This record gives sequence, C-alpha cells and structure tokens, in this order.
Amino acid sequence: MATAKTTKSATTKNKASATAKKTVKTATTTEKKPTASAVKKIRNTTVTAEKKKILFVASESTPFIATGGLAEVIGSLSKALASSDKFDVRVVIPLYSDIKKEYRDKFTYLGNLYVHLAWRNQYCGIFTYVKDGVTFYFIDNEFYFKRPGCYGYYDDGERFAFFSRSVLEIMPFINFYPDVMHCHDWQAALSAIYLKTNYCFREEYQFIRALFTIHNIEYQGQYSLDLLCDLFDIFGEYRYLVEYRNSINLMKGAIECCERFSTVSPRYAEEIKNAYYAHGLEDIVRKNEFKLSGILNGIDDLSYNCELDSHLFANFKPDDFSNKAVCKKELQNMLNLPQDSETPIISMITRLVPHKGLDLVTNVIEELLQDDVQIIILGTGDASFEGYFMDLAKRYPDKFSANIAFNGDLSRKIYSGSDIFLMPSKSEPCGLSQMIACRYGTIPVVRETGGLYDSIKPLNNGYTFANYNAHDMMYVLRQAVSDFKNKEEWSKLMFRAVTTDFSWNHSAKDYESLYLDMLK
Ligand code: GLC
Repeated sequence: MATAKTTKSATTKNKASATAKKTVKTATTTEKKPTASAVKKIRNTTVTAEKKKILFVASESTPFIATGGLAEVIGSLSKALASSDKFDVRVVIPLYSDIKKEYRDKFTYLGNLYVHLAWRNQYCGIFTYVKDGVTFYFIDNEFYFKRPGCYGYYDDGERFAFFSRSVLEIMPFINFYPDVMHCHDWQAALSAIYLKTNYCFREEYQFIRALFTIHNIEYQGQYSLDLLCDLFDIFGEYRYLVEYRNSINLMKGAIECCERFSTVSPRYAEEIKNAYYAHGLEDIVRKNEFKLSGILNGIDDLSYNCELDSHLFANFKPDDFSNKAVCKKELQNMLNLPQDSETPIISMITRLVPHKGLDLVTNVIEELLQDDVQIIILGTGDASFEGYFMDLAKRYPDKFSANIAFNGDLSRKIYSGSDIFLMPSKSEPCGLSQMIACRYGTIPVVRETGGLYDSIKPLNNGYTFANYNAHDMMYVLRQAVSDFKNKEEWSKLMFRAVTTDFSWNHSAKDYESLYLDMLK
C-alpha cells in the first residue's frame, strides 16, 4: 500500500545502468511539438497502411519472464497476431533483472529519456528485441526492476505507475503511436488511464484506442487515496475515474477509461457481473457491460506438443499412445512412486492459493488416497498449503508426491506422464493447464467455471462438476478413475482430448475483429 520516495542514489545508479551514452531529451518537456500536417501524415500512414499497429502493455511475457498464465498469453497471442500479416504487433514489458542473460545479451539498447511522474523525474532506458515477428521493448530502471521476481514489493504501485507512464513517453522516441494500445491487468491499467487523462489531448496520441484485458479480477491494484496526487499524478477532476469504495482502484480506472475491455473467456465475462466472482467490481463491470467481451485464450500448440516437446521422456503421436506409458514410468521413477502402469496418476500443477480449489482437495485427499491412485502436486504459493502437502507426502510416500517448485521442465514431464489432471478452481478466468494437459492426452477433471467451462466438455475431452463441493469433485474424480480401467474407451477419450484445437487460430481472429471494430 505504501510507497517510498525515490532516493538520489537510486537515480544515480539508474544513470549508470545505461550501456550506451546516448541521451534523449524528454518528450514532455523539450520535444518539438509536431505540426498539424505532420500529425495528419502520421495518421494517414496508419489509416492507409495495411498493417494496424497494436501495442501490448503487460508486466510479463514469455519467453523472457513468466510467473504465470499472463506471460504465456502475451507471448503466444502477440506471435499469433503478428503471423497474420495484418498487424504490426509490439510488446512493452519492464526489464527485470530476472530476465535470462541469454536473452538480455541479445537486446539492443535504443537510448534513454526521463519520465515525469508527480515530483519524480526518473531514468527510463529502452531496449528492444524482435522475436517471431513481434518487436519487444524493455523499460529499464534499476531502482524499480533490479530486484528478484516481478511483484510483491511495498512500492509495486510506484513501480508500475512508472512503467505505465513510460509506455506513453517512449512513443515519440520509438516513433510508434499504436492504433490500439492493449493493456493487460492492473499493472498496465495506468497506461489506459494516463492516455485519457493526459495524453489524448496531444495530437499524436488522440487516435489511440485503449483495450483493457482482465486476466484475473482478484488483483485490482488498490491503494490509499492519499497517494493519488503524490504518487499516481492524478488530480482533482480525474479523481472520480480511479476512486472506488474509499480507495484508488486502478482496474476500475482502466475499465472506465478504455474504449473496450475484455476478459479471457466468455463465461468469465458473464461471471464477473456477479459479486461472487467480481471481488467488489461487479457494479463497475455491469455499468460498462456494453463494452465488455470475453475471448477464450489459446495456447502455443507448437510448444505444447506431444510429438515435438523435447522435455518429455519420450514423444508420442495422438493416434499412438504407447510412448505415453514410457513417460508415466519414468515420471514415477523420478518421483519415487511405484512404477505401476495400472494405477492412474492424478496430477495438479497450480499456484497453491485458495481460488484454485485447494480447500476441496485438502478436504478429501486422504479419503481419495485410500483408493488405487497416485497423486502428484507441483507448485508454490501459500505457506499453509505448501506445508500441508509436504507433510502429506511424508505420510504417503508411495502414493503422493509434493513438488514445491515452479519448474517448466518438470511440469511438462508431469503433464505427459499423468492420466488425469485435476483443476477444481473456485474461479478461473481462463486457465491454460487444462488445455495443456489435453495436448498430452491427460484427461482434465475441472469445475465448471470461467475458461474451464468454456474449454472442457464432459464426455468429449474431460470431466466436469458444477458445485464448489469437495464430494461432488470426488464423485467425478472416482468416475474418471473407474473409466480409466476401460482401456478402449479411455484411448478414445485421450484422442479427443489431444486433438481438441486449443491453438490461437480461432481466438486470434476474435481479437482481430475486436481491434478492427474499435478502429471503425
Ligand atoms: C490469469 C488467470 C488464468 C488465465 C491467465 C491468462 O493467470 O488466473 O485463469 O488463464 O491469467 O489469461
């Protein structure tokens, strides 16, 4: 909630972080204002150019930095859109120190400028890198981003306010004024807000449309109202945009300011109109419902591919699962579970937080462990869940494996080596894991909510249950475990799961239509 004032030493440090000496003056204070005819020229280029300009603003993106599904969507959707040749797609994210060196070494330094935010005047370095047809920009400021991880700091509000402001400030420098600025989650909300409160009055920015996508409405960016002017640089007449229930609410502000907002599945777009799912924002969602849409996420089907994935113990084809048995055996070996092919493996790969439905799991897991099953969990999160599962693994060493880690390689080995994938979320904006599991012929058992409801259809590619109830979940799980014994039917189910189209083919077109609609 609180914020710290930037120290002088930090600014000095930031200056030192630039690898080249080129310094550009800030756009706000010293850049010459373009003439009206120059602006017309810029706009004409946009209107007549074949490619529409899309700028993603997000706090993470694969392959550079990822803490969850958001990064996967930014990386894979931008790539899918760029491949259509209709869009010039660019992405801006912070230059975290955790971005792997193998990538950092390839980035090109473009220059730097200084970004004003209330009384602050902060160094902003710009690096770039082109991957799969998408131009990425990285905002460098060591005071804000030279720390382990991406989030969870006392001054996250200040860090992402700086980031969001920088996105607008670098536009003249990179000479890219997007047709659609597509902001993702609360960390990028201020880009949409600043566009409407400060920048759209400048000719170059006046035609930029903002789309705000909610990946999870639970995290809204809420701060004390005291910080409005001093930190977020938002004054009197605009206060109403971000003020909500006696605090600053950045997600609310972005919903109010953007031309359109969306969420990551059609079902979740309906759900967030209700208090049960909206974490207090239901009134705002309903008020702005006319500009809301829900587009189901896709996944990168080349990356998650049982035939090609080099992380697997063995590759297999959708019409021949014999090597999946090798994946299962090696996984059991690796996790010290008995190597029994007839015992179904139920797995969960998840953040260990309550809305993932872990209270349902902890309620019945010991009962379930009496059956002939093996259960594997991979993930990190709340200490109480981590402790619970580690203790359980000690008590059931032959049946339960707890892996308290965030490990991409192991996750793919678990997806491919398991039989059943459990995802009993209380709420799930989209969820990617159920789709990834399908790609490896592992059958999802999910609760009917959000994107789980939209992607998993009972009898077709998985099992579902409706009520948030531990025994409803266990009943359906036991049904799946019993069906697993029927090899012929189970193989057909695996085939339908592995061949379900979860690529971006469909949803990238929905984004395309949404962008074009916004530009009418
Ligand atoms: C968030 C949501 C998840 C969604 C992902 C990508 O992590 O919790 O359901 O799949 O964003 O949109």
